[in-house]
This record gives sequence, structure tokens and C-alpha cells, in this order.
Amino acid sequence: MYPTSLLPPLFPTLVPLEPFLDESALQQEFRDLPSVPVLWQVQSIDSTNRCLLEWAPQGLPQHFCLVARQQSAGRGRRGRAWISDAEGSLTFSLWWIFDRSLQELSGLPLAVSLGMVEALHSLGMTSVGVKWPNDLWREGRKVAGVLVETTRLSSGQVGAVIGIGLNIALPSSLQDTCVLSLNDLRDEAGQAPARATVLGRLLNTLIPLLESFAQSGFAPFAETWMTHCVHRNQQVTLLHPNQTRSQGECVGLSSLGGLILRDPAGEPHTYHGGELSLRLEAP
Ligand code: BTN
Repeated sequence: MYPTSLLPPLFPTLVPLEPFLDESALQQEFRDLPSVPVLWQVQSIDSTNRCLLEWAPQGLPQHFCLVARQQSAGRGRRGRAWISDAEGSLTFSLWWIFDRSLQELSGLPLAVSLGMVEALHSLGMTSVGVKWPNDLWREGRKVAGVLVETTRLSSGQVGAVIGIGLNIALPSSLQDTCVLSLNDLRDEAGQAPARATVLGRLLNTLIPLLESFAQSGFAPFAETWMTHCVHRNQQVTLLHPNQTRSQGECVGLSSLGGLILRDPAGEPHTYHGGELSLRLEAP
């Protein structure tokens, strides 16, 4: 599980490996994968995304995964901080090298959010859906987010750091400090799934999905993504960064992951970019 000998010698001195996840639960989840991902566990780090982006020029193995029990400066989308809890969150980054243009990678975060929903459904958490572009929602509140950061490699390929933050069982004190309304994965009895099981299942689902995305792009996933969309066929308002709004019925996704809204005249309009917020229209 920790073939550190495969990595440049500098790495182990930078971050002490301090496993905190149940090894047997991980092995159980990885049994069907053709190759087990290289998985590093650390107790504390500023940001797993920042760390992988810093290490990338030295050459990271494909599918390398860094999971942290705690992040002191977790990064979220739109320059926001990502707040997490040492016991109740799952925070990790997965490294993937693509032979695709940056434009073709615009659907990558959506593909990842779809893989996450499918993984959670397979664990019985079927109330989780996707919210465009790449949040996971449960009962109207956010349970997870995806932050993909890319870097151009000397080979001409694009390296992607796929950062995932998931609320497994958040303490209420932390929920109160967040501007966003958050949810987590606890059931009615307050039971949360084991972090190792969730991480293992996520990687088990995401690795084949990303292989497929690397081959065929986002288009083959668009229809399935919409079946899990929490705003499917609902009237929504998109808030643009310049404060203008676009309204319409949420009807589909383009082949690159853009959101298609149908206006009152029945005309479809496609919107791209990570800077849009999506709100349900007031009745
Ligand atoms: C969002 O704002 O919705 C995206 C949040 C992504 C957070 C994860 S936690 C692991 C990885 N490391 C980071 O610093 N951010 C991502």
C-alpha cells in the first residue's frame, strides 16, 4: 500500500506518513482494481491539492492519492476556504495525467461528481445527488465539493489534481461557522460510514471512470449526470460573476459539461464556467 521506494527520495522527508484509515477496509475495496493506487496518508497538511501541485514537477506516479486527516488551509472553489474536521471529514487529492486539452478537461469535475454519487449510492446513500457544476447535495444542503487544479507538464500533457472534500459526520459547531448550509452522510440513527470504506469505494469507482473519461471525454457521462441532478427539470436562476442573472428550466448538459437552460420561449442556452451559482427560483 505504501511503496514509497517508487517515489523520489525527497517526499518521505517532506510529509511523515501517518496512516489513520483502516487498512483492511481499503484492501477490501481495492480488490477488483487492476492495480492498487499509491495512497499516502498524513495526519495534517495545509492542503492536499497545494501539496500535489508543488510535487508535480518532480514526477508523481499516475493515480497517486494523498489523503489528510486534517487540512489547515483547505482550498475550495472560487478562492473560498474548505473547512473540514479531523474526525468527521474526508479530504484527499488524486493525481491524474491526461492527453487532453484544457477545454476538453472542463467536464472533468462533473465526471468526478458523478463518480462520487455512484460510489455513495452503491454504499446505500441514495439521497445524494449532484448540483451543477460539481457539488454533491443531500436534502438541499451540500455534502461534498470537488476542486480540480491543473498544471501543464514538460511532456505537453496536462496533470490534474482532483481534490475532494466530503462531509462524513460534521460536528454542529463546524456547521454553524460555515456560510453555506452543509449536510453530511449520517443516517437517521446518526451512524456514519467508515472513512476508509468511503475512500476505498470512491477510488474504486473513480479510477475506472477516469480511465474512461481520459479516452472519451465528458460527453458519454452527460445523460447519466442529469439523472442525478437535484435541479433537473426545475426552474433555476444562474448568478453570473458580474451579478447578472439567467433564468430557465434546467434541462441538460453540453458535451463539455455546460449547463443547458430552456428559456420561457423554449430556446436552449448553454452556460459554461465555474463562476456561476445556481439557485432554485422562488415560486
Ligand atoms: C468546493 O469548494 O466545493 C471544492 C472543495 C474541495 C476541497 C478539497 S479537500 C481536499 C482537496 N484539498 C484542498 O485544499 N481542497 C480539496
